[in-house]
Amino acid sequence: MVEIKVGARDAGAYKPSRDDKFSFGLWTVGNSGRDQFGDATRARIDPNDSVKKLAELGAFGISMHDDDLVPYNATPAERDAIVARFARTLADTGMVVSMATTNLFGHPVFKDGAFTSNDRAVRRYAIAKTMRAIDLGAELGAPVYVFWGGREGVEAMASKAPADALERYREAIDFLCGYVIDRGYKMRFAIEPKPNEPRGDTFLPTVGHALAFIGKLEHSGMVGLNPETAHETMSGLSFYHAVAQTLWHDKLFHIDLNGQKIGRYDQDLRFGSEGIKDAFFLVKLLEESGYQGPRHFDAHSYRSEDAQGVWDFAAGCMRTYLILKEKAKRFNVDPEIQAALAEASVSELAEPTVGKYSAAAAAALRGDPGDPDALASRGYRNEHLDQLVMELLMGTR
Ligand code: GCO
Ligand code: MN
Ligand code: MN
Repeated sequence: MVEIKVGARDAGAYKPSRDDKFSFGLWTVGNSGRDQFGDATRARIDPNDSVKKLAELGAFGISMHDDDLVPYNATPAERDAIVARFARTLADTGMVVSMATTNLFGHPVFKDGAFTSNDRAVRRYAIAKTMRAIDLGAELGAPVYVFWGGREGVEAMASKAPADALERYREAIDFLCGYVIDRGYKMRFAIEPKPNEPRGDTFLPTVGHALAFIGKLEHSGMVGLNPETAHETMSGLSFYHAVAQTLWHDKLFHIDLNGQKIGRYDQDLRFGSEGIKDAFFLVKLLEESGYQGPRHFDAHSYRSEDAQGVWDFAAGCMRTYLILKEKAKRFNVDPEIQAALAEASVSELAEPTVGKYSAAAAAALRGDPGDPDALASRGYRNEHLDQLVMELLMGTR
């Protein structure tokens, strides 16, 4: 096998740098370990300290909800002081705010939903809060604004007409696109689908639903997706395929990376710690697709961890990504893998099948459609191919 110098397997080889564009939500490293069954297991981290530590570890940016930085009840003067201090920390560390978003799920006002609450006054409040949060994101230079519909859903089926809810969702996003355009902010929107949790059923549950929804928007060009590993995996879907289709539609505006077992609650595990094959093909795809956005981790450390565990978690997400990136390079130069890809006719799928329709082409094809028995006689050697991939990932190649 060809020896390639894409990072020796020593400790220093997978050190993240700013160019890798790794970012973390303030709420991720800031997660205190509180869950449905128990209280916090570690102290809250000051957002300024998170920025400093993440910069030290090699990240380039952070993302945030409005309330992660500015407490809900802060006065305008308190808000300005908090934001000014945070902006100084960003400048001192060279870190950027790579994404901003609104907390439309924490306050009890959103218990029936935000943009899709049955109560019109709640819907209006949600849009007003989002406009304020967009201002904050713009002030801190965030190029992407995420919409995760945390409470946009139901438990009682009878409680909402789904088509009305989607219509109100559309109205809210159209209005907020108008706001961004009117203000002259250089900002794009990214919708983050999720099937359930905290609601029993969430509107826009998967990447496919969200892509279709975008087609109905007034400013569909400025709205894309923020797909998350855990969310597609909860539905039993391949995240790799979901991201590939998002890219095919030119709609990958941002990404939430983490680890997840199929069919569970949203586990938000360290990136790559579950579903290693999906994670590998995802990293390969991101690296080879020309995606320029952040490699953003939306995950948190196990509840068992103290402060050190939190930074082990953050470093682990980035290190795993870089190891998989190196594996992708090895995949591309491994002669046996390349031969197996050829035996499986992988590149042939990139060739057009029939080209553009013409009556002559249709007649020719009908006259000579091919012999199905002869075509069926070949094998694709996918067992061999997948075994080679597994051995690459297990470290024997
Ligand atoms: C979740 C979501 C959130 C969002 C975040 C940004 O399951 O809780 O993934 O973490 O990503 O609110 O919109
Ligand atoms: Mn997320
Ligand atoms: Mn999530």
